[in-house]
Amino acid sequence: MSNSVPVITLDGPSGVGKGTIAWHLATKLGWHLLDSGALYRLLALASKQQQVALDDEQGLAQLASQMDVSFRSGDESCPVYPLLNGVAVGDEIRNENCGNRASQIARYPGVRSALLGLQHGFVSLPGLVADGRDMGTVVFPQAELKIFLSASPEARAQRRYKQLRDKGIDASLPRLSREIVERDERDRNRAIAPLIPASDAIDIDTTTLDIEGVLARVMAAVQQRGL
Ligand code: DC
Repeated sequence: MSNSVPVITLDGPSGVGKGTIAWHLATKLGWHLLDSGALYRLLALASKQQQVALDDEQGLAQLASQMDVSFRSGDESCPVYPLLNGVAVGDEIRNENCGNRASQIARYPGVRSALLGLQHGFVSLPGLVADGRDMGTVVFPQAELKIFLSASPEARAQRRYKQLRDKGIDASLPRLSREIVERDERDRNRAIAPLIPASDAIDIDTTTLDIEGVLARVMAAVQQRGL
């Protein structure tokens, strides 16, 4: 990782809108984008394809260290299009099933450390916007600016529901609400790299804000830091 490349981190729980905000921010600044959740989702998919069990930490870590991942830049509705071992992966990693599987394998220290180098590899001039759960706390602790986004579970379930329906993916709101609460629990309470704001992060509660409102606050912080 180069110290001279500026990094902005955006962390927060599932459905808070990190991906959309990160995409707008990276596009405005002309910086690179790391969707770290996509890496955990790709590993979830690869483990399913290769029949590595969800409780096989060593097998999962090995798979993570062998994964060949690259991103094609996307758009507002899908910030990045990932390629796994050179093959484009479609919406199959964006469904809730894959998200839940990703959250389960993300508990393992071996998996997280296997993905660390891959994440650092995204640092490149003129700068990187990285979104996830532990970007500001573990992966990029020296980041120039750290943002932590939050929103009520109800608002996040509604947003996720709309996002999935807009993509033509079938979804049930009550089930999504339940899964979001379960995933929050797991991501917040795991022993390693839990979902918590970095001590020097700026907190933005997005419950009553639209995308423009959140972006305006993030951009104000970016300008204040002279980025
Ligand atoms: O952001 P997402 O919903 O695509 O992430 C899917 C899961 O991956 C999430 O529930 C937990 C895990 N994850 C993680 O542990 N650390 C990250 N930096 C990003 C995602």
